[in-house]
Amino acid sequence: MVSNMKRKTASIIGFALLWTLAAAPAAFPQASAKPTTQTAGQHSPVAPTKEQIQAVVNEAYEKFKSNTEGKNADYIPVLAQVDPKLFGIVVVSTDGQMVSAGDINHAFSIQSISKVFSLALAMNELGADKVFEKIGSEPTGRPFNSVEAVVDMPTHTGNPYVNAGAIATVSLISAPSADAKWQKILDFYSKVAGEKLTLLQDVYKSEAATNTGNKALAALLLKYERIYADTLESVDVYTKQCSVGVTAKQLAMMGATLADYGANPVTGEQVIKRENVPEILSSMTMAGLYDGSGGWAWHVGLPAKSGVGGGIVAVVPGKGAIAVFAPPLDKAGNSVKAQLVITYVADKLGINLFSPRSVGLK
Ligand code: DON
Repeated sequence: MVSNMKRKTASIIGFALLWTLAAAPAAFPQASAKPTTQTAGQHSPVAPTKEQIQAVVNEAYEKFKSNTEGKNADYIPVLAQVDPKLFGIVVVSTDGQMVSAGDINHAFSIQSISKVFSLALAMNELGADKVFEKIGSEPTGRPFNSVEAVVDMPTHTGNPYVNAGAIATVSLISAPSADAKWQKILDFYSKVAGEKLTLLQDVYKSEAATNTGNKALAALLLKYERIYADTLESVDVYTKQCSVGVTAKQLAMMGATLADYGANPVTGEQVIKRENVPEILSSMTMAGLYDGSGGWAWHVGLPAKSGVGGGIVAVVPGKGAIAVFAPPLDKAGNSVKAQLVITYVADKLGINLFSPRSVGLK
């Protein structure tokens, strides 16, 4: 039983225990307020330092680099050709500091992780309530491309992270043409990352030539009146968004923007509306790893999103994000090594959101 006094102390420590990498304000700043020189070097005695985080990242890299479990995605043919040994880990804090290990500058396709940021764009435009009504946020417990889920779920769309819900989310974004919508999405992702992102043409061509399953999902949505723009155009824009290239560094920065209440930690730009961040993160917790989401929440306790390109980004609200890239996937389509690394780092740093340890309680 913790006394009131102890609880109060713990919550003060918890508030100061922002994941600061040793140089952030003692309290979470307004989104636009960046750390000043007066605060540089200050950190809670119980917050991990940059050196401690780097040590844990190095340990994880060494521990898992020789793991050969899993298999590259091959239903998008070019993904089977990506070197399965590529492996990069990046942590970015909400004050823009970075620690890393491995192949952090290799551009891979963002795939389903894009769904988070198209959701954010749709929510910027329509607000949380409207998007919830049009898409929903129910975990399907089924694979990401499940036809059965579209038929069985009362909302049909399920949630923004399964393919059907993601295609419907793209259809919600306003634009005068499909091309303009694609440009708008790419510009938005670039602002979230704080640098210009581009399409990986070979991935787009490979997926566009083989995505009959997604076209079928979109046709089913049309039957249920749960798609809100031209069906095939929506699938095409969705396919392009999945083919955006990101490095582990850029992906970690995108995650840190979510952690930083929607403001990019380096540019300071408020890209994602602050008020929508909790819904985006809660939906990631429930459905970010598809039919692996329950196990992920049980073991790790962080909102995260995976993609079949081999990336996973996990967000620690108010503190930072960790992105890992390693192509071989498990049966649910989630990178094996990325899950191992994030599980390890989250445990070592005590950042499981559901654990009182994350706010400093022993
Ligand atoms: O639509 C697809 O199947 C892919 N573009 C994205 C799927 C995906 O990344 C699922 N991830 N774990």
